[in-house]
Amino acid sequence: MEERIQQLLKEVQEYTATSRDAVENFRLKFISKKGAIPELFDELKRVPAEEKKKVGKILNELKQSAEAKFAVLTSALESQVKDLSIPDLTLPTIPNKIGNLHPLTLTRNRIIEIFERLGFNVADGPEIEDDWHNFTALNFPENHPAREMQDTFFISKNPDVLLRTHTSNVQIRLMTHEKPPLRAIMPGRVYRNEAISARAHCFFHQVEGLYVDRNVGFVDLKQTLYHFAKEMFGKDIQIRFRPSFFPFTEPSAEIDITCLICKGTGCNVCKYSGWVEIAGSGMVHPNVLRNCNIDPEEFTGFAFGMGIERVAMLRYQINDLRLFSENDVRFLKQFHTVI
Ligand code: DAH
Repeated sequence: MEERIQQLLKEVQEYTATSRDAVENFRLKFISKKGAIPELFDELKRVPAEEKKKVGKILNELKQSAEAKFAVLTSALESQVKDLSIPDLTLPTIPNKIGNLHPLTLTRNRIIEIFERLGFNVADGPEIEDDWHNFTALNFPENHPAREMQDTFFISKNPDVLLRTHTSNVQIRLMTHEKPPLRAIMPGRVYRNEAISARAHCFFHQVEGLYVDRNVGFVDLKQTLYHFAKEMFGKDIQIRFRPSFFPFTEPSAEIDITCLICKGTGCNVCKYSGWVEIAGSGMVHPNVLRNCNIDPEEFTGFAFGMGIERVAMLRYQINDLRLFSENDVRFLKQFHTVI
């Protein structure tokens, strides 16, 4: 019997368990009512009296040792389970990274929002365009140098198919298909064969604006764009109209606002002038109205074309246009989207 006790003691000491089942097996084998140790205690009753004391002592040692081991195995198991268990359920969740909208999209959306409140609809037109909608209907004379103002990408050898150089093509489509009163803005992408630099790109974005109705005057254009600038950039912004030329407007003006990047002290974005041009504008030329079958004696209108990149650069103080199309995540993730 002594030998069996020694053998079991060795087994107890060497026992290892990493699972709940293994710990339970240990309990069943050694300590449970039908386990080896209670069985030995039964046998102890039959041991001759002179040996009882000695055998009883080592049997007690075995029992203590098994109980201590069981305690160790159980607590090891518990701490292991704790590590794997679910963390504090009352903690707030870690937000999922869902990405964010592109700064140009955010700016376009803000522009739309401002004009929608003034009653402008949003209209859309094609990026692949024909000569009529991009040039001729907009009063660009044939072979006139004005066409060269806009370095055009032609799609094929056919000069009638081109990538639109401005969103003004949508004005023509709108005025041809719908009758005044018209009040719409037309955001979209445009293309020009220009060398890529911090200030210019071969593709960029514009928002065209058009308001045609009876008695629309230059004052409406000015007030609309003043309102826009203040909504977009804040009350302290300064805005100026500079006389200019566009074939499709008469009179024409370019619109500048104070440079928000350098606050007027001079930087590469404002070409050290303190002013940044954000749009071209003017009163719709009577020829353009006529080309769309609108009677210029009855209706007048104003139009403008705004560069979204320019607005975004001033809005977010970005000094290089190329950042918008490089898709560097370190740049893009700085523009938080509120959904
Ligand atoms: N289409 C012109 C450009 O891309 C911008 C422009 C100027 C649009 C005057 C207009 C306008 O509607 O009236 O440079």
